[in-house]
Amino acid sequence: MDDRGTLLQVRDLTAQFNLDGVPSRVVKGISFDIAPGEAVGFVGESGCGKSVTARAIMRLAPEGSSVEWGGRILFRGQDLLTLDEHEMRDMRGRRIAMVFQDPMASLNPVMTVGAQIDDILCRHTGVSRRAARRRTVELLGLVGIHDPALRADDYPHQFSGGMRQRVLIAIAVSCQPDLLIADEPTTALDVTVQAQILRLLMRLRRELGMALMLITHDFGVIAGMVERVYVMHGGEIVEFGEIDALFAGPRHSYTQALLAAVPRIETARRTA
Ligand SMILES: Nc1ncnc2c1ncn2[C@@H]1O[C@H](COP(=O)(O)OP(=O)(O)OP(=O)(O)O)[C@@H](O)[C@H]1O
Ligand SMILES: [Mg+2]
Repeated sequence: MDDRGTLLQVRDLTAQFNLDGVPSRVVKGISFDIAPGEAVGFVGESGCGKSVTARAIMRLAPEGSSVEWGGRILFRGQDLLTLDEHEMRDMRGRRIAMVFQDPMASLNPVMTVGAQIDDILCRHTGVSRRAARRRTVELLGLVGIHDPALRADDYPHQFSGGMRQRVLIAIAVSCQPDLLIADEPTTALDVTVQAQILRLLMRLRRELGMALMLITHDFGVIAGMVERVYVMHGGEIVEFGEIDALFAGPRHSYTQALLAAVPRIETARRTA
């Protein structure tokens, strides 16, 4: 690592599901680092273990399943896998936040978006309802929602896909976390909106001084966004490095295959 030190050090992380008594290991002992304020990409095909890895840092098993985590997840030197649930709840949202892969499932359909953000602020920062609303309106403005004071009273279904993703990002950054994990934040969006959301994430990272873990199956998405990349395949990290070096000379055949899938123009721009 460089002289910025590390925010997150993951060592020999494993994740094992229990499927009707049969253990299934889907993350097979991976190690990686994220420095404070750094943007890091995680790239790999569907099913390679990206989301399960991200969820390990939040210590959240996928809905309806139980996972056995192994290894160490050191956040500012403290092993998250040894915290009790109460300590971990305090960590989630406040220090480490995540934008989940399924935006609709992350919002409560029968609550206005403003009330959902108010709740989180009250819970984590102990501010009054009224102060929370002021902050909620600021946050909605920060992520580029027009007329935020009015839109706060709308329900999730009244927002477009891109706008809902902005709301989720507002929720994720509401308590100014040190690390924001964005799991395929743009997959469901059309290309123009994708670019807007990625720009928003980069701006917030800069303005709020957060580290960003950006997960995608598409090298094109992270080009120009992150400094370093980890390439995952079958529950392992098969290659990592500076993104420019990886674009210029991928060593692993799997990385080469992923890069070959990126439109030529993008690759040409990166290696120029
Ligand atoms: N709830 C679950 N129970 C059992 N196995 C699961 C569960 N969730 C995920 N898995 C398995 O764990 C592996 C990793 O899944 P994960 O969701 O991390 O993949 P991913 O890299 O995020 O893929 P995608 O790009 O499709 O989101 C896959 O083989 C998947 O089948
Ligand atoms: Mg996933």
